[in-house]
Amino acid sequence: MILRDKVAIVTGSASGIGRATARVLAAEGASVVVADLDEAGASAVVSEIEADGGKAIATRVDVSAEDDVREMIAAAVSTFGGLDVLHNNAAALGSASPGLDMDIANMDVDVWDRTMAVNLRGVMLGCKHAIPALLERGGGAIVNTSSGSAQRGDLAIPAYGVSKGGVDTLTRYVAAQYGKQGIRCNAIAPGLILTHEVERFGGEAYVKMLEEHHLTPRVGRPEDIAQAVLYLASDAASFVTGQILNVDGGILSHTPPYADLRRMAR
Ligand code: NAI
Repeated sequence: MILRDKVAIVTGSASGIGRATARVLAAEGASVVVADLDEAGASAVVSEIEADGGKAIATRVDVSAEDDVREMIAAAVSTFGGLDVLHNNAAALGSASPGLDMDIANMDVDVWDRTMAVNLRGVMLGCKHAIPALLERGGGAIVNTSSGSAQRGDLAIPAYGVSKGGVDTLTRYVAAQYGKQGIRCNAIAPGLILTHEVERFGGEAYVKMLEEHHLTPRVGRPEDIAQAVLYLASDAASFVTGQILNVDGGILSHTPPYADLRRMAR
């Protein structure tokens, strides 16, 4: 029970990576606030956690709305007595605006603004309102979900990638400003993580193609990220802060033509 007696909030935890993380943190003893726009989905995750013997509540939040975020933090404090861990994981994905976050010359400005509002302002608001609660407990851990999209250019989803670049920078600022008061702030940059959304939006051929660019025999699973969040949230990571941890099967660690070279060698 790595997180016994700890209280954690996981945003965007009605599905995918957030759901897996909420379940892992609860299984390790944390009381978890399952926070999502999708209230029914969040309640279903709470039921899963309770069926496993864990403690959780569901709360509806739009992370881009300051009042919602304030209430989310207050729900953790009033229900469980404080806050130790915030996992800022919710994001507007490219699949939320199919065909609109494509190339810069054709950028839909509303999509750009909404992406920044959810992915970047949402993370800032989470930090802003969590920090006083974490300080009340003498410190704590914030883990943001970034993306490999922040570390390279690509043919599509520039708004998403730029928003995640902002998350990386924000992570370092929070770590710098609150480290001496016991708050650690890190980010995780996942590789391709096979969620229902990725399978539905990308399809089998897309996943297979990207698999060839990972150094591992498979692409990622939500549980791979959940375990990394658990580590960064725990005292085992008490000397780790201001870092962007790539949990990505090595997709950004190799020579660009890696997959082509392997095909040539066959
Ligand atoms: P997902 O679509 O399964 O989960 C995202 C969740 O966020 C959903 O439950 C959705 O309802 C919620 N959400 C969306 N907008 C929200 C808002 N304004 N307020 C509150 N909740 C909101 O997606 P997935 O893949 O689990 O993504 C989780 C995180 O991982 C995101 O930050 C994403 O950018 C990041 N990521 C995912 C990768 C992947 O391959 N799946 C790769 C790199 C990063």
